[in-house]
Amino acid sequence: MTDRECRKFTELLRLHCGLDCGPETRWALASRIARRVCELELGSFSAYHYLIRSASGAEEFAQLIDGMLSDETYFFRDRGQLNALIHQIIPESLKEPRAHGGDPVSLWSAGCASGDEPYSVVMLALEAGLVPRTDFRIYASDISRRMLRCARRGTYGANSLREIEPTLRRRYFHDKDGLWRISDAVKKHVDFIQLNLMDPAKLALIRNVDVILCRNVLANLDSECKQRIIEMFWDKLRPGGHLLLGDSESLVGLSTSFELRRLKDELVYRKPSSGIGLRDPWHAAAETVRARDAAETDD
Ligand SMILES: C[S@@+](CC[C@H](N)C(=O)[O-])C[C@H]1O[C@@H](n2cnc3c(N)ncnc32)[C@H](O)[C@@H]1O
Repeated sequence: MTDRECRKFTELLRLHCGLDCGPETRWALASRIARRVCELELGSFSAYHYLIRSASGAEEFAQLIDGMLSDETYFFRDRGQLNALIHQIIPESLKEPRAHGGDPVSLWSAGCASGDEPYSVVMLALEAGLVPRTDFRIYASDISRRMLRCARRGTYGANSLREIEPTLRRRYFHDKDGLWRISDAVKKHVDFIQLNLMDPAKLALIRNVDVILCRNVLANLDSECKQRIIEMFWDKLRPGGHLLLGDSESLVGLSTSFELRRLKDELVYRKPSSGIGLRDPWHAAAETVRARDAAETDD
């Protein structure tokens, strides 16, 4: 595949789902496409490019994207942050006046992969007694239909459960032929939806969310697309709502509208209660350093 051909594909993926194809990803993309061109007997990369842009190639395009996005996940990933969510963020949310009196506490796991993250939140909420005491709802979305099928099925290998202690494993899973099936008591609290975070039309359904978890999703995305997604999260959160990112992710260089909160050992972002963007002092400092570094590089 020539550089020009490769750029046509990487740009298509970037515009569609935000994927940033660095040099290593480009090689994987090119070999995947070459294999499909052969299997489908298309004869050229441009014929494949034409196919995935056509209505009849929608499934092929979805599978190409699916194969390029990282879907690594497991139960109780970054548990400290999940504990802060259950023991501090949600109880605080419950004390705040709700827009419509009896509205449930709503959480959105954006980029939920096979569901380990939203199910972990439900298990911890059950353990803390938040559920069933509280009207509590989790929306979980992903671009990958394959991952969502796994999430809805709710059956996992032992590796996904490696961080769960045996008592919780016994309480919330059934062992069947070497696989672990999550109990209906957990499952019933999560609604899975297929959503591309870069597709605003479908996202219109989501609003006034208390907490958005978007952990380990932005890492592979292009920075302009990350910015668009973060702005969209801002609109979807209610004032005072929280945004939780992965432990190696931050909003530095992406947004200065959110407040950065320290919760014991965890850092989380919050939309200020007034709903008006604040210039966070940490970000302001980081932005100054970035601008200075960029100016020095230019010199
Ligand atoms: C590495 S997994 C993270 C799963 C989970 N949040 C966690 O931290 O364990 C990233 C997920 O984000 C999804 N994803 C990536 N880009 C997306 C997009 N534009 N729209 C929706 N989901 C996306 C991928 O399909 C993948 O399942």
